Amino acid sequence: MIRESNSVEETEAIAAELATTWVGGECVALHGDLGAGKTQFVRGLVRGLGGNTRSVSSPTFMLLNIYDTGRLTVYHLDAYRIHGSDDFESIGFSELLEQKGVVVVEWASRVGELIPVNHTRVTIESIDETRRRIEVSGSPVP
Ligand SMILES: Nc1ncnc2c1ncn2[C@@H]1O[C@H](COP(=O)(O)OP(=O)(O)OP(=O)(O)O)[C@@H](O)[C@H]1O
Ligand SMILES: [Mg+2]
Repeated sequence: MIRESNSVEETEAIAAELATTWVGGECVALHGDLGAGKTQFVRGLVRGLGGNTRSVSSPTFMLLNIYDTGRLTVYHLDAYRIHGSDDFESIGFSELLEQKGVVVVEWASRVGELIPVNHTRVTIESIDETRRRIEVSGSPVP
């Protein structure tokens, strides 16, 4: 699926729509440059699951943020500042994948070998200041 977003709100809506069918156990790999809109997309996912988006922020300095949406727990990670997969393994990434929540990883290519085969791949590209090209592929479940 390829969509074009013309605003932050539209990006959130595309993400929210995607999350409505999820049942737990999903993994989402987010790709895109700095400022592409990956964290905005996560806000949409949390909203789509019925959660409060106010708590959603970039985990760049925290590595892991956890949001309780009421429906499913969202584990939001950012691999931008990590130094290899060891950092991710030491915070228990593989255990997170087993929690039956939703695991979302920004800069997923930096920990590519840890991302399960079954995952949803989201790539966000800036067209200009307010427009984004959003490509969603892959299935989160076997
Ligand atoms: N259509 C759009 N969709 C998403 N974000 C947009 C859009 N138009 C403008 N923006 C702006 O782009 C920025 C996206 O920031 P965001 O933190 O989501 O990026 P990011 O991909 O998570 O970056 P980082 O790699 O630094 O974590 C925000 O300032 C947002 O307001
Ligand atoms: Mg971000």
